[in-house]
Amino acid sequence: MTTEQTVPTYAPPAANDVGALSWLVGSMDAYRAMHQRSIDDPEGFWSDVASEFHWFEKWDTVVEWDLPDAKWFVGGKTNLCYNAVDRHVADGYSEQIAIIWEGEPYPDSGPEVRRITYRELQNETAKCANALKAMGVKKGDVVTIYMGMVPELAVACLACARIGAVHSVIFGGFSSSAIVDRVKDAKSKVIVTCDGSWRRGKVVPLKENVDEACQSLDGTPDAVEKVIVVKRCENDVAINGRDVWWHDAVGGASDDCPCVPLDSEAMSFLLYTSGSTGKPKGIVHTTGGYMVHTSYTSKLTFNMIPDGQQIYWCTADIGWITGHSYILYGILPNRVTSVMYEGGPDFPDASRFWDIVERHRVTQFYTAPTAIRAFMKWGNEHPAKHDLTTLQVLGTVGEPINPEAWKWYRKHIGRGVCPIVDTWWQTETGGHMLTPLPGATPTKPGSCTLPFPGIDAAVVDEQGNEVPNGEQGLLAIRKPWPSMLRGIFGDRERFVDTYWKRLPGMYFPGDGAVRDDDGYFWITGRVDDVINVSGHRLGTAEVESALVAHPAVVEAAVVGMPHEIKGTGIAAFVTLGPGHEPGEGLKNELRAHVGNDIGAIAKPDLIKFAAGLPKTRSGKIMRRLLRDIAAGKTEISQDVTTLEDLSVVAKLASSDES
Ligand code: WT7
Repeated sequence: MTTEQTVPTYAPPAANDVGALSWLVGSMDAYRAMHQRSIDDPEGFWSDVASEFHWFEKWDTVVEWDLPDAKWFVGGKTNLCYNAVDRHVADGYSEQIAIIWEGEPYPDSGPEVRRITYRELQNETAKCANALKAMGVKKGDVVTIYMGMVPELAVACLACARIGAVHSVIFGGFSSSAIVDRVKDAKSKVIVTCDGSWRRGKVVPLKENVDEACQSLDGTPDAVEKVIVVKRCENDVAINGRDVWWHDAVGGASDDCPCVPLDSEAMSFLLYTSGSTGKPKGIVHTTGGYMVHTSYTSKLTFNMIPDGQQIYWCTADIGWITGHSYILYGILPNRVTSVMYEGGPDFPDASRFWDIVERHRVTQFYTAPTAIRAFMKWGNEHPAKHDLTTLQVLGTVGEPINPEAWKWYRKHIGRGVCPIVDTWWQTETGGHMLTPLPGATPTKPGSCTLPFPGIDAAVVDEQGNEVPNGEQGLLAIRKPWPSMLRGIFGDRERFVDTYWKRLPGMYFPGDGAVRDDDGYFWITGRVDDVINVSGHRLGTAEVESALVAHPAVVEAAVVGMPHEIKGTGIAAFVTLGPGHEPGEGLKNELRAHVGNDIGAIAKPDLIKFAAGLPKTRSGKIMRRLLRDIAAGKTEISQDVTTLEDLSVVAKLASSDES
């Protein structure tokens, strides 16, 4: 246990100290009672929560659990879009603002802002759903969405939910080959995209990437049939036979399209995430359980009260699970206003986020540790210039937050009073699992504190036995929860192997953890070959396979290394083939090559050329050793007795070719 884990706790403030109406959970006693009930009587607990939503037909059974398969609210029929949008219109809140959208460009007249009411969102969504139907999209079909952060992205997702189509959103920073892989895996025939998207003043050519992907699929059974294109940046794009403009297809559609009652277990979306192999996994989420869990966690973690006053902003992109769950599906059912910002945090300058908080009077703010570290570096003067007094609750997600960043966040953004909710969860868990509740949980910088009600979490050893407090172990979830993944699309074996084999009878998320004497959880990071770069998961194998696809490379090993802003950066050890010379030029070429193959986030921060990679006698690359070298540790402390060729290590560590 480090000294950081013995720091004094920060008590939750009184609600009115931060300008909140009240705390929904206002004491540790209240939290503990809720949690205890949820463990003693999970069915009663979740049934009460689920009753707050609209169901076309009520469920017969709360949960069916046949490890590793869970079904929630079995027999129930509901609709995510109905609960996120239509229900509020039906209840008389049609004029409340659902989404405040702000574009990136910042002319003298101010940025473009769109305020979309729940009624408008309903109409747009219905029109988009009709446009999709007209293209032949049916219940269960997968629609690929590759867009910038424009309102049409939210509309496209909700439109799929409306008619029971399954969406697969691909982050707009990924390359065309990422589109190819995902479209093929999901057997998706329709893509929704934009001409381009704004990022730090430049246009990302989304349509061009889609064209490239489509061309490589043409003539195969996986050929894409239709592409809908939102005009956003007005960059030049080719409009081909399969393409149709959004303003024609959606603009011309009828706004009459009722939400389809769907089985609680109907698939709602696929979201691809990296694992320990080179192939991303399509994580499968469903409808009822996902809705109940993400909405309820939104409500309690961010203290959401539908009084028409709360303006919540999550800075994630909808291309990640954080955007799915905590911009759209968990937030809108709470009938608050969700802010969506199109662009970069430092455009036109480093105070953009605080400018947005001030102008839109943001009350809850949710971002990533990597962003907080960047803000720290950019300087305190940027938040200081803006009125941030509307903020009530601050959140973080994506990676462990270093205590220094936590304290900076509280002081410079939270006026030294706002509670910080450090939320631990994953693409697979769908929603928050370990998190403080802002009005109840005393917090410690760097700890995600305690399980959300309904979650049975533990730190265990390889046999699945709980380890004593203070000892490092594996994080485990012992009971099913409503928004848990239902599988990996098309790969049952990988689903079982990845999550359900390592620990007997429990879900294994791939993270290490330790609990302190108060039972608080401290996440120590991934224990598999996955690295967390700026809060985004990347499989080392994915980057390696991109590198070896370059003609100069014969072998590559990729590991994480400490990085000031990203948390973890990417270090690549590369062996070149005959006739290829190491040098700066080749390094830049390899970086660009990985960027083209996967996306900019996968570009290595450090490349070391190596005549050979350190291997065990059985031929396994010694990654732990490479991690030490990448971290600049000169003394190699590890056991190297199984190492094949000791001279390789000495050469790598002293290599001046990096
Ligand atoms: C992995 C999941 C959840 C949305 C963003 C990332 C790490 C996430 C925390 C946190 C420590 C965290 C874990 C997890 N992680 N949140 N609060 N403290 N680590 O989603 O790409 O599915 O990655 O991110 O290692 O397994 P993801």
